[in-house]
Amino acid sequence: MARRPIMAANWKMNKTLREAEDYTAALIPRAEQAEGVDVAVFVPFTVLNEVARMSAGTPVIAGAQNFYYEDSGAYTGEVSAPMLQDVGARAVLIGHSERREIFSESDDLVAKKTKRALDAGLLPVVCCGETKEERDSGGFWEKIKTQISSVMDALEGDVDGEKIVFAYEPIWAIGTGDTASPEDAQDAIGKIRDLLRELRGDAFADSVRILYGGSVKPENIEEIMAQPDVDGGLVGGASLDVESFGKLVEAAT
Ligand code: G3H
Repeated sequence: MARRPIMAANWKMNKTLREAEDYTAALIPRAEQAEGVDVAVFVPFTVLNEVARMSAGTPVIAGAQNFYYEDSGAYTGEVSAPMLQDVGARAVLIGHSERREIFSESDDLVAKKTKRALDAGLLPVVCCGETKEERDSGGFWEKIKTQISSVMDALEGDVDGEKIVFAYEPIWAIGTGDTASPEDAQDAIGKIRDLLRELRGDAFADSVRILYGGSVKPENIEEIMAQPDVDGGLVGGASLDVESFGKLVEAAT
């Protein structure tokens, strides 16, 4: 089954409203020209409304970088799925390693958020990945398997593989320039797909999209995208400049 690739920008804690507007205005025509690829931008809450408004009716999918699984209440500093949808978000990143490591997000919290995003009709992009120590000690697969299994265990009933995306991001490759080799990316992502096949069957495993993230840039995207199980990229640093991200979008077509 041919899966539609996704090229996703994660701006992290970057960009003013003016910068976000200029970027989005420049990205839309490039996304319109890039056939056969989904283009997503995960932006700070402060600019989400405007990026979503500008992107409405275009191929650009506006997404948030985080949310909380309750819908409303006394959760100071948090935003909910209905709030994201109210300002036009269609997707959300969940369990990015920076959320897990800096803000202590657990596998259980990541699982609850994924379930809530799916129920709300937001596209969850669920991140997983191991540290350098875990890779060097040979414990990398146990970590990834636990992260993926805890999410899938929380999802009851049939799940449409096209409604959820995973992103494998080795922590040692994020923002370091130290990209995983295309073979390492394929090895990890192939194992994730095999695990999903074991847990949810062929239809799910063959339709779910799994991205690679970690120092993706125009110079290495082609060999990463050439791997059979890699369905796109989740890009931090190289997505901040719209020219660079535009090249990545074109490389994914
Ligand atoms: O979400 C994106 C990843 O953290 C990758 O960031 O492309 O700057 O390495 P990077």
